[in-house]
Amino acid sequence: MQIKLILSLLMQHVIIGGINRQEGQDAIHKLNGKFGKDRAHFMDCDVTNECDFDNLFTETRRIFGYPDILFNNAGMLEDKKWSQTVDVNIKGVLLGCFLAFKYMGKDQEGGKGGVVVNNASILGFDACAGCPVYNCTKHAVIGITKALGAEFHYKRTCIRVCSICPGVTNTELVTGAKGRQYMGEWGEETARQLSQLPQQEIGATGQAFMYIVRHGISAEHYIIEGSEVFHAKPPPRQTFSTLKRSFKKD
Ligand SMILES: NC(=O)c1ccc[n+]([C@@H]2O[C@H](COP(=O)([O-])OP(=O)(O)OC[C@H]3O[C@@H](n4cnc5c(N)ncnc54)[C@H](O)[C@@H]3O)[C@@H](O)[C@H]2O)c1
Repeated sequence: MQIKLILSLLMQHVIIGGINRQEGQDAIHKLNGKFGKDRAHFMDCDVTNECDFDNLFTETRRIFGYPDILFNNAGMLEDKKWSQTVDVNIKGVLLGCFLAFKYMGKDQEGGKGGVVVNNASILGFDACAGCPVYNCTKHAVIGITKALGAEFHYKRTCIRVCSICPGVTNTELVTGAKGRQYMGEWGEETARQLSQLPQQEIGATGQAFMYIVRHGISAEHYIIEGSEVFHAKPPPRQTFSTLKRSFKKD
């Protein structure tokens, strides 16, 4: 649904990079049937592998000229495989941003700027005791977006870096979460907490993605929860800090 919207409303071509070739090929087949031959392409890409990810950009440039939007979407909610979760959810997002700077940055040869949308989560703000690893990786995505979306980078690259923070969305990531956490009870707690939050279908995140591509401000975060988009602005820490003691000399 996300890709359908993107193709119908915005882009000439979409290149999907992923590790599940069969799923990717099926998606491409459907999309090209609907939107026209060669509009969508699939490439094998493990986002934790720098060569794969670099290749995604170089091939895109070779075939289509110029990439202008990157959706850093790959992610896993599987604290049982916590090291891999850290790699995919954090290293993958960092790699994507660095490569976007390298191939899309206005300060690079042939670069024209563009947009990077990092997929964080409402768990980039809230706590979820049952899936601490996933939880912390999504906080990291918020931090990456704040730092790499800052004016310091934007004025050089002309790339807006924003994050989309979906609430509970009906995908395999959520439906399979219970059995994939570090311990059995942790999975139950994760499922319990997620089941209490507003639910939405995947199309809502597709529409939010389009909104962010068009209107998103660099270094800012957009929550899509219960099919509504919210601009999330975490307050500066000084506004919620209470002085407990002072260690100044005088
Ligand atoms: N579903 C939700 O409620 C929800 C909420 C907030 C955020 N998110 C985020 O949305 C994103 C998409 O998740 P989804 O809900 O569509 O789940 P999903 O499991 O359907 O999709 C995750 C995708 O990431 C891919 N992936 C995993 N490891 C990869 C790797 N090393 N290289 C390349 N691709 C890899 C998987 O093959 C899969 O296609 C994730 O980043 C997730 O954290 C989802």
